[in-house]
Amino acid sequence: MDQAQKLRDIVGDVSSEQLDARIITVSSGKGGVGKTNFTVNLGIALAKMGKKVTIIDADLGLANVDVMFGIVTKYNLSNVIKGEITVQDSIVKGPYDINIISGGSGIMDLIDLESNQLEKLIHSLSYFNTISDYILIDTGAGLSKSVLSFVDAASDIIVVITPDPTSITDAYALIKNIVKDDQKRIKLIINRVDSNEEGDEVFNKLEQAVTKFLSREIENLGYIFEDANLKRAVRKQIPLMEAYPRAIASKGIENIAYNLENNNRYAKTNHSFKSFLSKLMNKI
Ligand SMILES: Nc1ncnc2c1ncn2[C@@H]1O[C@H](COP(=O)(O)OP(=O)(O)O)[C@@H](O)[C@H]1O
Ligand SMILES: [Mg+2]
Repeated sequence: MDQAQKLRDIVGDVSSEQLDARIITVSSGKGGVGKTNFTVNLGIALAKMGKKVTIIDADLGLANVDVMFGIVTKYNLSNVIKGEITVQDSIVKGPYDINIISGGSGIMDLIDLESNQLEKLIHSLSYFNTISDYILIDTGAGLSKSVLSFVDAASDIIVVITPDPTSITDAYALIKNIVKDDQKRIKLIINRVDSNEEGDEVFNKLEQAVTKFLSREIENLGYIFEDANLKRAVRKQIPLMEAYPRAIASKGIENIAYNLENNNRYAKTNHSFKSFLSKLMNKI
């Protein structure tokens, strides 16, 4: 039996448990636009709505998910893939019972994984699926092959931008590289706006370019205001939604969580965990 067939069989065996997570990748064209803060606080907003949330940190950069939560992750998915620890051991619990997993290089080097390692990765992701309503993946910036595999396989993609012109052009380049899939609409978050009008303006600008030159649709998920409380929260290593739940940026993130949950039905009927895995396996 060839390797690809074996992997397809493993995916086929993944049982659809009672929970079928909605997998959302959070990406941006350039770094420093607020992705990690957004991912962490979106997770808290969803958890406050009663959802079971898992956050996977797939960014190898410095200012990581664990730092934002003020926790220490001892292990990462690489340890699981290498068979050094169990998948349960890779999970650190955050506030509101959020599962926090550090991806490590295991998730970045998908293409180089051996089949037994890939098998372990599939089983890990399947496990997260059974314990989550939402799996949020902070992919980091840029266009590495593995990042794009995740982005293309996920049912939802959130692209974070700021009003900064280079952020907008870099986001355009990212969107251009995401495989066209009519069932999947790219969702946009505009972070660090000073007004709703500014948000509208930035959204319209990007939407026009994406419609005209890429013939794709993008969805406006909402805006997050520039807010000094966010920097304070980062310094304290307490997520904004916990430290300053009534801050204007917290309200923006709450609104985005509500919008996401509201169009959940559409996404869920079209995308299942199995389709995520199949798509991921087709990429590698
Ligand atoms: N809405 C905001 N208001 C004020 N500062 C922000 C906001 N969003 C992000 N920042 C600043 O940008 C920094 C980088 O955010 P981060 O989430 O680490 O970005 P990324 O993950 O995209 O690299 C934060 O530490 C904070 O200082
Ligand atoms: Mg980050």
